[in-house]
Amino acid sequence: MNVLVTGGCGFIGSHLAEKLLSIGHEVYIIDDLSTGSINNIKHLQTNPKFHLNKDTITNDSLLSSIVDKVDIIYHLAAAVGVQLVMKSPIRTIETNVHGTEAVLKATSKQNKKVLIASTSEVYGKSEKVPYKEDDNLLIGASTLGRWSYACSKALDEFLAMAYWKEKKLPVVITRFFNTIGPRQTGQYGMVVPRFIKQALSGKPITVYGDGKQARCFTYVENVVNAIISLMENKESIGQVFNIGSTEEISIENLAKKIKQLTSSSSEIVYIPYEQAHEHGFEDMRRRIPDISKLSGMLSKTGGFPKHGLDETLKLIIKNFKL
Ligand SMILES: NC(=O)c1ccc[n+]([C@@H]2O[C@H](COP(=O)([O-])OP(=O)(O)OC[C@H]3O[C@@H](n4cnc5c(N)ncnc54)[C@H](O)[C@@H]3O)[C@@H](O)[C@H]2O)c1
Repeated sequence: MNVLVTGGCGFIGSHLAEKLLSIGHEVYIIDDLSTGSINNIKHLQTNPKFHLNKDTITNDSLLSSIVDKVDIIYHLAAAVGVQLVMKSPIRTIETNVHGTEAVLKATSKQNKKVLIASTSEVYGKSEKVPYKEDDNLLIGASTLGRWSYACSKALDEFLAMAYWKEKKLPVVITRFFNTIGPRQTGQYGMVVPRFIKQALSGKPITVYGDGKQARCFTYVENVVNAIISLMENKESIGQVFNIGSTEEISIENLAKKIKQLTSSSSEIVYIPYEQAHEHGFEDMRRRIPDISKLSGMLSKTGGFPKHGLDETLKLIIKNFKL
């Protein structure tokens, strides 16, 4: 099969491209290298079935010429990461909204199956535990820049569902919870690579807020396998799926765990949200997925695999380049 991965030089996209090639697919990538890196896909470039296009997904003629060639599309390109979103809200909104609009338009002309990568952030400030796909989305005020990412991704979901309902475009929407693994960069605010870098370099490990906020971290390979299975399954069309681990850890305990696993002498320091981000910054205390829908869909292919957090962190630390 021929497959397009937008954002294929990014963290998740590069793992997806690698897996798709390993199971015999021909892989096309469009990536403008804004947050992604050639280093992420260097090892794939000698494969004759790998085709890289360094360009933006809003280049309509390039996008439609590649959509012509492929059978399915994974749309992962986006502006991602709390720090990037806070610093560049215009870029975030425009990339996420116009980019997805361009992808949906191009794929709908040919009626090709497309996966839209969304995020657990769309649940916003909801305090419900765990989050289910049809729960209400509770986005914060538009004066707080951090919500622009969630809002732009929620709009992507609405647009994708509209294409499914009005034009019968086969779409699948996946809400990733915190995904971690080798090649993820801490540059744009991702907590695990940031903590590992601080721990390995002996600098203070900086926990934002009181550290009692908790998250579930998922190994990237599990995410990649899940989205490939969803795209192979006809029943996934027109549906939204949470994808994430259900193993919860507080950010404070994550810092302690990383300090211990790296045998680091770094001290753990707490930085108020206002100092780390912006005045009035809001964060969710807990963010746990209900994955019963995903597990049901994947039951024929062995369900959603569970790599423990310790095992995943050890693997990332082993592969980490300072
Ligand atoms: N990593 C996570 O924990 C997480 C959680 C929830 C959702 N997601 C979603 O998963 C997807 C992939 O995220 P990631 O963590 O791999 O981020 P990433 O930043 O590593 O990857 C995004 C890629 O998109 C590319 N890109 C950005 N704008 C582009 C444009 N206009 N044209 C072409 N390419 C462009 C970047 O260069 C980068 O390679 C995103 O849609 C993100 O919203 C990720």
